[in-house]
Parts: sequence; C-alpha cells; structure tokens
Amino acid sequence: MRKLLIGGNWKMYKGVEETIKFANLFKEKKVSTEGVDVFLAPPFTSLVDAVRIFKGSGISVGAQNLFWEDEGAYTGEVSSVFLKEIGVDWVIIGHSERRTYFGETNAGVKKKVEKALQKQLKVVICVGETEEEREEGKAKEVVDKQIEEGLLGIEYDAENLAVAYEPVWAIGTGKTPHPEDAEEMHSIIREKLGAKGESIRIMYGGSVKTHNIKDFICQENIDGALIGGASLDVDGFSDMINIAKEIKC
Ligand code: 13P
Repeated sequence: MRKLLIGGNWKMYKGVEETIKFANLFKEKKVSTEGVDVFLAPPFTSLVDAVRIFKGSGISVGAQNLFWEDEGAYTGEVSSVFLKEIGVDWVIIGHSERRTYFGETNAGVKKKVEKALQKQLKVVICVGETEEEREEGKAKEVVDKQIEEGLLGIEYDAENLAVAYEPVWAIGTGKTPHPEDAEEMHSIIREKLGAKGESIRIMYGGSVKTHNIKDFICQENIDGALIGGASLDVDGFSDMINIAKEIKC
C-alpha cells in the first residue's frame, strides 16, 4: 500500500506575510494529517519562515526548484545544500512552467533530481504532455521520454521519490482528463519506473479541487495530488487533506 501524498505548489504566490498567515490559520484548524503525507512548496523567500511555522503541524515544506551545483558563480540560483540547511524536506523538479518559461530540459532535470536525492531531499519530478502533443497522439511517448531522460539510471530509494503526472493543458485551466485516462497514464509511468515502480508514489496534478480530488485518488495508480491554485486557500487545502485521509473508494 502506497501512502497518499498531497502536495501544494504555491508557484509565485504568497510572500512571507501571507505564508505565515496561512500557516497560523492551518494550525488553528487543527487538521490532522495522520495517514497521509502532506507538503507545501511556497516561494524561496518564504521557506525559512514556512519551515519554522509549519513545524509540528503535519505539513512538510518543499521548494519549487533548485540548482544542481552545491555552490558557485550561478547568479540567481539556490542549491540543495542551502535548502537542507534551512530544513526543507521536499523539492519539486521539472515542473512544466520551468520547462516552458525557463528552458529546462530533461537532461537538466536529471542533474537536479540526482543532486537533490544525493543530499537527502525528497523529490517530486513532474512530467506531462502539452495539448498539442496529446492531440497528435504523442502523450505517452512524451512522458516516457521525460522519465527515461530525466530519471532513469539514478540510484534512489523509492520512498524519496514521487512522480507528478501533470498534463500541461490541465494546469490552471479548470480542464482535467477523465480520471480513467489519467489512470492509464499513471500505469504507463509506473511500468516505465521498473522494479521500484510499485513503491513509488505517482501524484496527479492539474486543476485538482475539492470537488474532483476523490475521483483521481480513487484510481489504483494515482497515489495523491499536486495542487496549484486550490492549495492557496487554507480551507480548501484542509478539506482536500481531510478527503484524502478519510477516503473510501
Ligand atoms: P493547478 O492546480 O492550479 O491547475 O496547478 C497544478 C500544478 O501545476 C501543480 O504543480
């Protein structure tokens, strides 16, 4: 049995003040996360405060990116060493927005994943096809390649790695694949992961909300959700944790 993993990717939302406000409200609600793993990934500037204030709340803290070197003349970058130093547990790597707007490639993703795992950060590697690729019937091929070139060959413990399948056309659009279609992609990804595949959590991401999360996580090969917009609201995010925790499919 794979433990459900619920993650919130705040993208470029919430500075320090709003992060602290969210964390305090979350703690006041006394939401139990027992039985599920939960993390939130705020922007870099909020990480120090997030680690401090979410401590003991059941929510772990993640970063949204890192660079593969430990230190050096890399203006604007943040290393795994710095993230570990402040107590960050998770890191999201290869999100489609990083691939689209910042030119990240599968080869670069692989270097980041390798370094993060080496430094004992838990990794969520993101994969997913664009609308055009799906229409051309290339979704499976694209995701296959992202796993193959971005992950395969790296040594890791299955518990330290999660994959997020995020079809690009479903991100921030309110459009979602049919849960059974997402399930099909997840089972392809699991097969591609090889021997460790059975133990690796594969999250679905793309317009996950309180009203549809259950439909996704009830699928056999969907082991959680990576939530963007809907994770910014403390009530909504708490509701989704509760749904995951109490789920009966
Ligand atoms: P939305 O939930 O806003 O569609 O974003 C999904 C996502 O990109 C999570 O990483």
